[in-house]
Amino acid sequence: MRIHSLQQYFEEYKKSIENPEKFWENIAENFYWRKKWDKVLEWNFDEPNIQWFINGKLNITENIFERNLADFGNQTAIIWESNHIDEPSQHISYQQLFEKVTQFANVLKNQGAKKGDRIAIYMPMVPEAVVAMLACARIGAIHSVVFGGFSAQSLSDRIIDAQANILITADGAFRGAKTISLKNIADEALEKCPSIQKCIVLERTKETIQMKNGRDIWWHEALENTAIECEATEMDSEDMLFILYTSGSTGKPKGVVHTIGGYMVYTTYSFQNVFQYNKGDIYFCTADVGWITGHSYMAYAPLLAGGTMVMYEGIPNYPHAGRFWEIIDKHKVTHFYTAPTAIRALMATGLEHVKPYQLDTLKVLGTVGEPINAEAWHWYHTHIGKGKCPIVDTWWQTETGGIMISSLAGITPTKPTFATLPLAGVQPIIVDSEGNELKGNDVEGNLCIKFPFPSMLRTTYGDHQRCKQTYFSTYKGLYFTGDGARRDEEGHYRILGRVDDVINVSGHRLGTAEVENAINENPLVNESAVVGYPHDIKGQGIYAFVVLEKDAQTQEKETMKASIISTVNKIIGAIAKPDKILLCSGLPKTRSGKIMRRILRKIAEGDVSNLGDITTLLNPEIVEEIKKEAGV
Ligand code: WTA
Repeated sequence: MRIHSLQQYFEEYKKSIENPEKFWENIAENFYWRKKWDKVLEWNFDEPNIQWFINGKLNITENIFERNLADFGNQTAIIWESNHIDEPSQHISYQQLFEKVTQFANVLKNQGAKKGDRIAIYMPMVPEAVVAMLACARIGAIHSVVFGGFSAQSLSDRIIDAQANILITADGAFRGAKTISLKNIADEALEKCPSIQKCIVLERTKETIQMKNGRDIWWHEALENTAIECEATEMDSEDMLFILYTSGSTGKPKGVVHTIGGYMVYTTYSFQNVFQYNKGDIYFCTADVGWITGHSYMAYAPLLAGGTMVMYEGIPNYPHAGRFWEIIDKHKVTHFYTAPTAIRALMATGLEHVKPYQLDTLKVLGTVGEPINAEAWHWYHTHIGKGKCPIVDTWWQTETGGIMISSLAGITPTKPTFATLPLAGVQPIIVDSEGNELKGNDVEGNLCIKFPFPSMLRTTYGDHQRCKQTYFSTYKGLYFTGDGARRDEEGHYRILGRVDDVINVSGHRLGTAEVENAINENPLVNESAVVGYPHDIKGQGIYAFVVLEKDAQTQEKETMKASIISTVNKIIGAIAKPDKILLCSGLPKTRSGKIMRRILRKIAEGDVSNLGDITTLLNPEIVEEIKKEAGV
């Protein structure tokens, strides 16, 4: 399944387009199926109905463990590096990881978990987070991982939407100098979640927490006297593997659903080809398990590919800004995959934090989550890769499950700020606003995908209509990504960013409507409008224009802003905290009452040279007021 040369890439790509079924069938043969599929693919983008490896039977954990244990059971699967620099790292072999997974799978069964149940996971970056996910997969339960930075409200919304019956969490999480009291937050969330029968709690920070009788159980106590062997549950290729909630242009995050067979095949295939991972290499992906990158290229694909990976609990700049580089030297990392926002943040701290480290084991660098600007690309290439490591700029989405457009390290060309070429099996097209395909090179428009690939989303949990509406209705017969893109003279793709109401803050997706809804929960607030604006480190920052209730307008401005920020922290979590809040007496609206976000975006960007015709607004005078307040 590995491509070894540029010519082979073009050949494989051609094959994958001419006969996708044959192409993917050949790749799927590399895995262990209890029963082979009857048919490779069935699809229809109108419904949408997408099925891969139909009637194939398997368990993804048998492909991680049983398929490989005889060959490399003693090889390290996970090297875990603590948040605390002085806490020893852990080396967990495949055999050890296997036993942890199967034993914990028995714990889940003992707590009443069954095939098809939804299990929520709200954990720190510790190996047990991966163990929990794989244990769910072992018994055919569907995991829904919720990022540990989300608030009680966000956690309960996700648990309720999925009707999860078990929550797996920890007493707390270490994040740099701070701790996050996960269990306290979970307790608050669970007050609203009657579907949860059991809550399993890992001990990590040892902070004082409450354990609710009959519901809560310690992870380590649950393991006592629990058998280690646990037979894998036979699953259908199209059974759900997980739900992962992600933001869109409406206020409510949606549960993107991935199924087992296609996800397994595509994530492994893409991992091996994009990173060109070889046995013995040490791969380090910095993504949190709460995001899709943490699922596909931190947990599943490296393990399915029999790799050795580094999992890091902490943050990039604690206790010092050289922490990533120190970890790379310490564990002889060969492949490093991170987000542009982290690169920019570390770049800003100066080269003195890079200089003490050798970084000479590195072979491949990667980025994901947002467009990388040229300056950050060159800094990464020169100072981290020492000019010798290809950078794979990987474009993909929660919905695509795996990397769609990226160079293959050392095989296909790289070009700063370009994701470059589609992977085999991926058929991107660029359309204009009416959905007409823009053929040829040197074109710019909206990025769509015209043919299914194995790891694409199948539905949005509990609401198939929403999946259809969001992704398959904008342009008939196409999957619409929500991104704008340019295909240059050489046919290389450059991703231009979201064209919908989604903003990308430090590589995290947030819907502007979602942030507005949170702000509007504050009793001082009458209405609000949120837009993204260019931010040096975060890529995009959050700019909130807020109209206060009449009786609130006498209060001190800074107090009110602080109150709004605390509401957002409470409703969504600190990742959605506005960077700038502008208090104003009204928002620019059309005569039909629609907020003119275009104008607000321009003001947020500090570019008011061309605001367009504002005389047709309901309240043109408000624009002057806002401009003045914004100082532009
Ligand atoms: C953006 C993350 C430019 C894009 C895997 C996409 C990127 C959204 C890149 C998905 C990249 C991701 N270059 N933009 N290499 N990778 N994006 O679901 O806007 O968290 O639609 O998945 O991130 O974000 P998500």
